[in-house]
Amino acid sequence: MAPRDGAPPLLEVRNLRVRYRTRRGAVHAVDGVSFAIGEGEVLGVAGESGCGKSTLVRALLRLLPPGAVMAADKLAFRGRDLLALPDRTFRREVLWKQLALVPQSAQNSLNPAYRVGDQIVEALQAHADMTGAQARERVAALFDIVGLEPGLARRFPHEFSGGMRQRAMIAMALALEPPLVIMDEPTTGLDVLVQERILRRIAEIRARVKSSILLITHDIAVIAEMADRIAVMYAGRIVEQGSTAAMFAAPFHPYTLGLQNAFPSIAKPGKELISIPGHPPALAAPIGGCGFAARCPFAQPRCGDARPPEVAVGPPGGPAHDAACVRLADVAEIRRAAREKSTWRS
Ligand SMILES: Nc1ncnc2c1ncn2[C@@H]1O[C@H](COP(=O)(O)OP(=O)(O)O)[C@@H](O)[C@H]1O
Ligand code: SF4
Ligand SMILES: [Mg+2]
Repeated sequence: MAPRDGAPPLLEVRNLRVRYRTRRGAVHAVDGVSFAIGEGEVLGVAGESGCGKSTLVRALLRLLPPGAVMAADKLAFRGRDLLALPDRTFRREVLWKQLALVPQSAQNSLNPAYRVGDQIVEALQAHADMTGAQARERVAALFDIVGLEPGLARRFPHEFSGGMRQRAMIAMALALEPPLVIMDEPTTGLDVLVQERILRRIAEIRARVKSSILLITHDIAVIAEMADRIAVMYAGRIVEQGSTAAMFAAPFHPYTLGLQNAFPSIAKPGKELISIPGHPPALAAPIGGCGFAARCPFAQPRCGDARPPEVAVGPPGGPAHDAACVRLADVAEIRRAAREKSTWRS
């Protein structure tokens, strides 16, 4: 979404890099990622497991483990330079209040020893000036938003199903009405029916609260319905980003085409699923050329020469759409070939 009247975007990220130091060497988990989220916008980030999505989220929220090194050219929230903020200020003024997280495997993140409602009351009182009664009232309202009976606040986590725990964690993230909620794989690990219910619930929440949502998933079909824009991540980089409509109607990057082949689509039920052979790289060494080259059916020798730049591919004057592939000129032929199962044989 274009910022209004030259206002800064809600969140702006430029050239974010994250390296984990491990005993076996460095892991270049995020390798120069740039994107922005507008006010009220839903941005979906899609990519297979191991592409750096959770690391990106942890870096934004300063939740990286010790030993991880992060750097960026710019990290700004409503124009405020987050890189300049000391940890204490970030925790006091930004975390939860401005940026809240529903972590990956959130359904297992509640403390089993405490009632679910009390855990949210505690979080509320730690960050906002509220009496116990006010906090309990807020919990009832939050439960209502996420579709949980307010009386359930007195139950313990083991009395909740996985889907209910996930909704409780979404309630917790919404507690302080943050302008941006980050949901890391909110449907992963839940059965298909519960996944659908959670997605419907997130769509309803979106209509009721004004928060922007950064929705992270390995399943591009999950965000097809929900996101205004999609960024596709591979090997620590964003390889294509654009409006959801354009990303489905006219994708440019072979990895986006591969991801779309691999997941069932609501628009085309019954289409044949074609998986991308192989796995994302381990990211133990910086990748010089295109990160997808080892698995790309369209790779040419020049793909390994240098990192493909992000090139604007959208229609002039239309919404931004960028892709990082050196064969953009061949996209018509690549799209046609990508539909054939034989193209993706290993
Ligand atoms: N704490 C860590 N220490 C070392 N490597 C890590 C750590 N967490 C993740 N990684 C590695 O970083 C890469 C990206 O992981 P992650 O951000 O979890 O990806 P995704 O969320 O897309 O599955 C993977 O290669 C993963 O093995
Ligand atoms: S740059 Fe080459 S290897 Fe990378 S996606 Fe494009 S065609 Fe495939
Ligand atoms: Mg993850």
